[in-house]
Amino acid sequence: MSSNNHSAPEVQVFAVANQKGGVGKTTTAVNLGSALAERGARVLCVDLDPQGHLTVNMGVAKPDELRVTVYDMLCEHNVTAEDIRLHSPGVGVDFLPANVELAGAELQLVTEIGRESVLREKLHPVMADYDFIIIDCPPSLGLLAINALVVATDVIIPLQCEYFGMKGMEQLQRTIERVRTKLNPRLHIHGILPTIHKGRTVHANEVLREVQANFGNLVYPFQVGDSIRFAECPLAGQSILQYAKDSDGATAYRQLADFVLSSREAN
Ligand SMILES: Nc1ncnc2c1ncn2[C@@H]1O[C@H](COP(=O)(O)OP(=O)(O)OP(=O)(O)O)[C@@H](O)[C@H]1O
Ligand SMILES: [Mg+2]
Repeated sequence: MSSNNHSAPEVQVFAVANQKGGVGKTTTAVNLGSALAERGARVLCVDLDPQGHLTVNMGVAKPDELRVTVYDMLCEHNVTAEDIRLHSPGVGVDFLPANVELAGAELQLVTEIGRESVLREKLHPVMADYDFIIIDCPPSLGLLAINALVVATDVIIPLQCEYFGMKGMEQLQRTIERVRTKLNPRLHIHGILPTIHKGRTVHANEVLREVQANFGNLVYPFQVGDSIRFAECPLAGQSILQYAKDSDGATAYRQLADFVLSSREAN
C-alpha cells in the first residue's frame, strides 16, 4: 500500500491563550476538546498552567499527587509525552497533566538551548495519534506560553465581555506576531471567542459590539454565555457536554467545534 498520505489533514494545534486571568481559557480548552471528540475527532489536551486547572477539569481531584507531569516532560530529557499521557472518560479526550511543579519549569528552561521549542520537540512523537491538540496556556506571556505558540498552528483567544476585557489584547497580538516572524511562520489567530457573556446586560452587549468593531472577522459569530453550570463541571470531572448536555454552554462549544471542523475542511 502506498504510504503517500499528502491528502490527510495534518494535526491542528490550538493554543488557547490570553494573559488575562479568569477569562475562560481552561473552560474553552476542555469543552472544545470534548465537543471535537464528540464529533469523532482524536483529541489531546495539554495543561500548560501550573495551576493545574485543566487537569482538575479532566477529573484528577489532586493533581499534586501525580507522579509525572508536563513538568517532567519538559525538564527531563528521558520523559516523553507517552510517559505522562492520561485519558479522561468524563471529557472524552487524552490529556497531559500538570500541577504546581510546572512553575519551576520556566526558570529551569531559561538556560536550555532551544528553550522556546521544547514543547514542540516533546509533542512531535505523539502528533500522528491526533486530529487536534489543544494547549491550555497560563495567564502570562512567559516561556511556557511562548512554547505553546511555537508548536501551535492556531491561537484561540477567549475574551471576557467586560470593561477591561480588551486590555492586553495589543500585547498578546504583538507576542503572536513576534513568534510568527521569528519562530513559527504557520502561526495565526483562529478566532476571538467572547466568553462569560452576560447577554442580558446592556454593558456586556456594548463591549461585545466594541470587540466586533475592533477585531472584525476575527471574532467568532457566537458567544459563550455566563452560566453557573461551568463552575460545577470540574467537581464532576466532566465537560459541559456531558454534565449539562442540552445547556446553552454545551451548545456554544459544539458551535465552536463545528466552526473549527468546517474551517479545517475549507483549508
Ligand atoms: N461561560 C462561563 N460562564 C460562567 N462561568 C464561567 C464561564 N466560563 C468559565 N467560567 C468560570 O470562570 C472561572 C474562570 O474560568 P477558566 O478557569 O476557564 O478561566 P482561565 O482563563 O483558564 O483562568 P486562568 O487565567 O486562571 O487560567 C472558572 O470558575 C470557570 O468555571
Ligand atoms: Mg486556566
